This record gives sequence, structure tokens and C-alpha cells, in this order.
Amino acid sequence: PVTGTSQVTCTAPVNIAVIKYWGKRDERLVLPINPSLSVTLSQDQLCARTTVAASLDFKKDRIWLNGQEQSIDAPRLQKCLGEIRRLARKRKHEEERMGDLLGCCVHICSENNFPTAAGLASSAAGYACLVQSLAKLFHIDGDVSHIARQGSGSACRSMYGGFVEWTMGKMEDGSDSIAKQIAPADHWPELRVLVVVVNAGKKAVGSTEGMQTTVKTSALIKYRAEHVVPSRQEEMRQAVLERDFQTFGEITMKDSNQFHATCLDTYPPIFYLNETSKHIIHLVHRYNQHHGKIRAAYTFDAGPNAVLYLLQEDLPEVLALFHHFFPATTNNSERQFVRGLPDVQRK
Ligand code: PMV
Repeated sequence: PVTGTSQVTCTAPVNIAVIKYWGKRDERLVLPINPSLSVTLSQDQLCARTTVAASLDFKKDRIWLNGQEQSIDAPRLQKCLGEIRRLARKRKHEEERMGDLLGCCVHICSENNFPTAAGLASSAAGYACLVQSLAKLFHIDGDVSHIARQGSGSACRSMYGGFVEWTMGKMEDGSDSIAKQIAPADHWPELRVLVVVVNAGKKAVGSTEGMQTTVKTSALIKYRAEHVVPSRQEEMRQAVLERDFQTFGEITMKDSNQFHATCLDTYPPIFYLNETSKHIIHLVHRYNQHHGKIRAAYTFDAGPNAVLYLLQEDLPEVLALFHHFFPATTNNSERQFVRGLPDVQRK
């Protein structure tokens, strides 16, 4: 039973997709039009930290995000809270520990250690962390990725570490559209992730709105979902299992490019990449071309910031390359591109 306050704190890292999720077949349940695959960063990197507390003294549910109180009525938030309470109610009779918890209001306090809503998967870490903390508070064991998914689609993948796949599922209620770990983080210890913050400001078009317009207006997104991603997902899973960086890198870059192509194919078009992002793309291709193999692979989400996948042995060289072409600036505005880069040579 709750005497005083019952409290739980969790952290959840962001995940960076190598096969992108873009487009829903069911807006309410957040069911995707294609499967996706991602890598969850480690706990000491970009992550959300959430404390949830329940008390009979609390008069209403409340939430604070990075120190600022937010509306608890946000539909996605309500969905997650409601689903957790529904599961808890179902298990109440077999769980003595539940006590008065179900009669309590909750206070939620969440912080990100990186810019929010800048296309750095902040909502993924945030909702994964919220759902995990609530599940712990209400003594719910087992997979709750289908609940995190309803907060933010990509959040379901942050419920697990390492290499994670989000299956589309076939059930109408979405109960089989869940995240599964395909390999733990230590499966590929040499793999490194470099986050290049190009612009830490908020993105112009949020992913919910962006996806809706793309699904409504783009012919390319249908082709992608039906004819490209299904086989790509299999190839990517294989590449991960075999630690085949050449295939992993090539598919990662192609999939990022195709996702942004569907954004350009949206009417009116959505541009998430800026000039600096494009310079990074050229730089990576030139670098790989110089070595005659893929040594670094870029990927971009719904914003201009780049994430590079590479192997530990190449990290010092790639870091030096980026420091050379993009010397650090002290402000948060777009990085100056100071040295001219010759165009990438095409085969
Ligand atoms: O989960 P959302 O609604 O923030 O969408 C995320 C979409 C991308 O980050 C662009 C791709 C992905 O699979 O993470």
C-alpha cells in the first residue's frame, strides 16, 4: 500500500534508426507503414531521465519537462498513462503490492541531457523513459513497448538496448507492433556513433505532421514501404548479425537518403537537411571514396543534425576530419563551413 509517496527513477537513451520509420497506417494506435531498425545508444550518452511519483496527497496528475510544467492533457501522454493504468488494473487482483497505487495521482518529472525536439530523437528517449518508469511504479513486468509506441512511434525501440527492430505487426489493435532486440550492444563492441550537432534549434516540421503530409501526398513513400524497406530490413538484420560494416554502412546511408527523398516528394516539400548537412554527406562520400571502402556512414532524422556510424579504429581520423572542416563554434547557430570541399566524384 502507498504510505506517503512511492517513487521510481529511470533513464532511457535515444536510438538512431538505420532503417527509418516514416508514415503511419493508423494514426490513433501509431502503427507504421514499414518496419524499422535502430541502434540504442549507451546510458551515458544522449538520454532522458524521468522520475515518477505517486501519492494519495497529489490532487491531480502533473508533468514537468526540463523544469517547466507542461499540460498533462497532451493526447499521447494521456494514452500512455491510461494504458499503464489499464494494465495495472487488470493485474491488481494478482499483485498485492499494487495497494492504493491505482487511486493515486502521479507527478512526472523528465529531463533530457541534450536539445529537445531538434531531430535528435528526444521524444523517443522521453516516452520510452516515461513508460518504463510508470511500468515500474505500477509493478508491471514484461514488454510494454506497445505502450511507448503510442507515445512516440520510435520510442518503442528505446525500450531495449543494442540493435532493435520494430515489427509492423498484423493485429488491428496493434498488440504485435512491438520492439524486439535482435542483438545486444556488446555484440558489436567496435561500432561507434558520432553525433554532429549542426543546429540545436527546434525542427520546423514535427514528425507527426511531416509523416501525415508525406503519406497523403507522396507516391515515393508507398513504393518505399512496399518495395524497398521489407528486403532492406532483412539485409540490415543480416549485416548486424554478421557485423558486416560495409553492408551496414551502405544501407544506412541509402535509407537516410530515401527517407529525405520522400520528404522532398511531399507536397509542399519538407526540407530537413540544410547546406551543412549536405556538406557532411559529400565529405563522408569523399572520405569513403578515398579509402575505397565505407569507413563512415551518415544518417539524418527529421532535422539537419548528422549521426555517423563508424568503427573504433577509424574514430580518430574521422574526428580529425570533422574538426578540420567544421571547427567548433561557441554559439548554437549553424556551424560555419570554412573550407571549400570539392564535389564528390561520381562513378
Ligand atoms: O517517433 P517519431 O514520431 O518522433 O518519428 C521518428 C522518425 C524518424 O526519427 C525520422 C525516423 C526513426 O525511425 O526514428
